[in-house]
Amino acid sequence: MDHNAYIPKLAKLIDIKKEVGGARPIKSFRTEFLNKNDFSFRCGQCAMLSVFGKGESMISISSSPLMKDYLQFSILKMGRVTTSLHDMQIGDIIGVRGPYGNGFPIEDWRGKNLIFIGGGIGLAPIWSVLQTALGKKEDYRDLMLIYGARTSKDLVFREELEELRKNMTVHLSVDVEEPEWEEFVGFVPQNVTDKKPSPENAITVTCGPPIMIKFVIKALEELGFKDEQIYTTVENKMKCGIGKCGRCNIGVHYVCKDGPVYSWAELKKLPQEY
Ligand SMILES: Cc1cc2nc3c(=O)[nH]c(=O)nc-3n(C[C@H](O)[C@H](O)[C@H](O)COP(=O)(O)OP(=O)(O)OC[C@H]3O[C@@H](n4cnc5c(N)ncnc54)[C@H](O)[C@@H]3O)c2cc1C
Ligand code: FES
Repeated sequence: MDHNAYIPKLAKLIDIKKEVGGARPIKSFRTEFLNKNDFSFRCGQCAMLSVFGKGESMISISSSPLMKDYLQFSILKMGRVTTSLHDMQIGDIIGVRGPYGNGFPIEDWRGKNLIFIGGGIGLAPIWSVLQTALGKKEDYRDLMLIYGARTSKDLVFREELEELRKNMTVHLSVDVEEPEWEEFVGFVPQNVTDKKPSPENAITVTCGPPIMIKFVIKALEELGFKDEQIYTTVENKMKCGIGKCGRCNIGVHYVCKDGPVYSWAELKKLPQEY
């Protein structure tokens, strides 16, 4: 091995966008490698971001592999590392190691209808695969996004979502009623039941809080989706990212290597350690 897998590559923050404010703020960061490194990745893969002197966090790459100019990460402020990232400015340098994980088998989905179902920051891993499918629209059939958050202010990629409506079906929701809100009110799984996407020739990708995923899968099953048609991501806590430390295990699986993407058919065979 000519490269130590633990040594991050240096990247500059070239754009920082506030997505969500309030008590659970989210920002999107665009990064550019200092030495123009050729960092190729698949949709659904992640990278370990380091803030020097603070630590590392595993974050999904939210940009599409078709976008060669930058990598984008959309990050919820949680603790030590993510707070430090939120405090950074354009021009600051972070470390990036990866990419890690398996990614979505998007090549196998050619000719199918794709239904993306997200909640809150869960749109970040979906965004990469959604943008890739849009960029290769001729390879896929109908594209649909069902996305929700607690309030309209908690929806990420607001401007991009409006733009998205020109190219695909978008159904948004908020958990509780708001004066100006004209779309669905209720939880994301209820919106799935309401919009009734057809399981025929379809693949669905769902990411979000574990409780949302659980009920989205139940709603999809009731609509006739088979386990093999449902994909999700598992975000067990991670340390090394390369299958060495055992922090992320589900049974014999290292989520950092064998996941984080699983079909429901695969995931339901594993112990419920996620
Ligand atoms: C595969 C994968 C992909 C991820 N993608 C994203 C992403 O795209 N955007 C994003 O904002 N976050 C993502 N995360 C979660 C992110 O890694 C954690 O929020 C981050 O590491 C927290 O680090 P911290 O130092 O800020 O917080 P810490 O100080 O380490 O912890 C603060 C709080 O967050 C909790 N926490 C830490 N890690 C996790 C986790 N994995 N799951 C649930 N709770 C956790 C801790 O228990 C603690 O309560 C992902 C995690 C994984 C494993
Ligand atoms: S994070 Fe170390 S084995 Fe997966």
